[in-house]
Amino acid sequence: MVDKIKVDNLSCYYNRKCVLESLNINVIQNEILSIIGPSNSGKTTFLRALNRMNDLDLTYSRRGEVYLDGGSIFDISMEDLRRRIGMLFAMPTPLPMTIYENIVYAPKRLGLISKKSEQDALVERALKDASLWDEVKDRLKSSAMKMSGGQQQRLCIARILAINPEVILFDEPCSGLDPISTVKVEESMIGLKQKYTIVLVTNNVKQASRVSDRTVFFFMGKIVEIGTTDKLFVSPKEKQTEDYITGRFG
Ligand SMILES: Nc1ncnc2c1ncn2[C@@H]1O[C@H](COP(=O)(O)OP(=O)(O)OP(=O)(O)O)[C@@H](O)[C@H]1O
Ligand SMILES: [Mg+2]
Repeated sequence: MVDKIKVDNLSCYYNRKCVLESLNINVIQNEILSIIGPSNSGKTTFLRALNRMNDLDLTYSRRGEVYLDGGSIFDISMEDLRRRIGMLFAMPTPLPMTIYENIVYAPKRLGLISKKSEQDALVERALKDASLWDEVKDRLKSSAMKMSGGQQQRLCIARILAINPEVILFDEPCSGLDPISTVKVEESMIGLKQKYTIVLVTNNVKQASRVSDRTVFFFMGKIVEIGTTDKLFVSPKEKQTEDYITGRFG
């Protein structure tokens, strides 16, 4: 098993206040790693630290290192890093264009594709990988804004896939979706781990248990427990983890 990401003694601060303390954690290539934990435990901060999204915030600072394929993420240009590590947010954020244009927009701008045939092939591949192709193949030229929330979220996944990332970060991707759309997004995520490495923040512990290989439980900016999902949910080592996954707090 190869470490895709390695986080070494990472501490994160907003206005010098510590919100993540000395984290050591690895993300294994082609796994889905779920991060669970109550509100304010630092899950989003952690995710954003992995593609340097936090760096835009002037009150933010950090100590420690994050490695991608063994190299520091701070030695990679921001543009390359964002291409290699894509991120999906809680609310679907399609562009107000057609389904087709949503997918080719970024790859065209980045100069990854130009020919119509390349664009067509890319749209098909990305939509298939996002488990959306069958639902929309006959209406690629209609507006993305007319899709359901779950379809929009999978379109946003397809948009990320279109720029060939290596890692995808999901921050509560189903929190605004109904149960059926949630299942579809989960199915799409499970399919994606063949090609990509996935870190999923979710406040739905059942979702973590359904889709992830390993799960980590965060509390107040620290890792309480990390383990294979089967083990963590069946026989957690820590009482805090058990209380959280059984719904006794958080
Ligand atoms: N931009 C910011 N500026 C200042 N403080 C912040 C900022 N973003 C997050 N924080 C603080 O950092 C801590 C961790 O927040 P974070 O958003 O990472 O938690 P979370 O686990 O994702 O919570 P939730 O489940 O509610 O999304 C909180 O105390 C929060 O108030
Ligand atoms: Mg969050």
